[in-house]
Amino acid sequence: MTATWLDFWQKENEFDDSMSANYAYFLARVEQFINLSKSRSVLDIGSGPGNLEDAWHDRVGEIHGLDISERYNAMGRAKHANHPNVHFHTLAADDYLNFSPVAGRQFDIIIVMSVVQYYRNAAEVEDLLAAIKRVAAPGAKALICDLIVEESVLKDIVSIVGRSLRQGQLLSMLKLLFRLRFSSYYNIRKQNGFLVIPESEWMAMCKRLNLNARFVAEPLTMQQERRNLLIQF
Ligand SMILES: C[S@@+](CC[C@H](N)C(=O)[O-])C[C@H]1O[C@@H](n2cnc3c(N)ncnc32)[C@H](O)[C@@H]1O
Repeated sequence: MTATWLDFWQKENEFDDSMSANYAYFLARVEQFINLSKSRSVLDIGSGPGNLEDAWHDRVGEIHGLDISERYNAMGRAKHANHPNVHFHTLAADDYLNFSPVAGRQFDIIIVMSVVQYYRNAAEVEDLLAAIKRVAAPGAKALICDLIVEESVLKDIVSIVGRSLRQGQLLSMLKLLFRLRFSSYYNIRKQNGFLVIPESEWMAMCKRLNLNARFVAEPLTMQQERRNLLIQF
């Protein structure tokens, strides 16, 4: 049976240790767009091991992470056992657009970082946008980040190597790329690819859902050709 991205994230993988470098890059830039305060509540869709929760738990009112990986949620819960304002909820792998774990809640800040490329198709992403609209408080902002808007594996690699060099992290990035080449990641990527949605299609989806959205000009992740969509409610 062909393994899928959903299977990949359930198991220990090469990103477990490396995601935080990309996240640090994002954290250093995101506050140009998002104001944090103790009165704000945050939803982190595809929260992984909890990088956002680690950085923001004492700067916002509460944070809820949603992820299909119970393994990552367990890691996040262990790190934040003493932080009653941090919650990790597990989404069903076959029903990941069902946000019932946070039903009835509204959020001022919604972050989706490096997640939609693992969705199965653009229709699901439009459902994600509709789900975000349902949980967004008036005045909320959503940032959907690290979007692949054109297919180019080579550009992706050149970009991340160049950025890592400038950030003084070239060696650890080259080690990661080497490990990835001989890992299940490589095979799953070969079989499933990444979901690529052109910018025009993102804007068309936002228009159909009547969302006030724009791509931010500045890169927010180390892969500089990836785009970041800001939605203002
Ligand atoms: C590259 S990691 C990013 C994690 C985190 N956002 C970060 O940047 O540190 C991708 C995450 O998305 C989760 N994920 C993949 N598909 C998902 C889906 N359909 N719904 C929710 N989470 C998903 C994975 O389990 C994994 O934790």
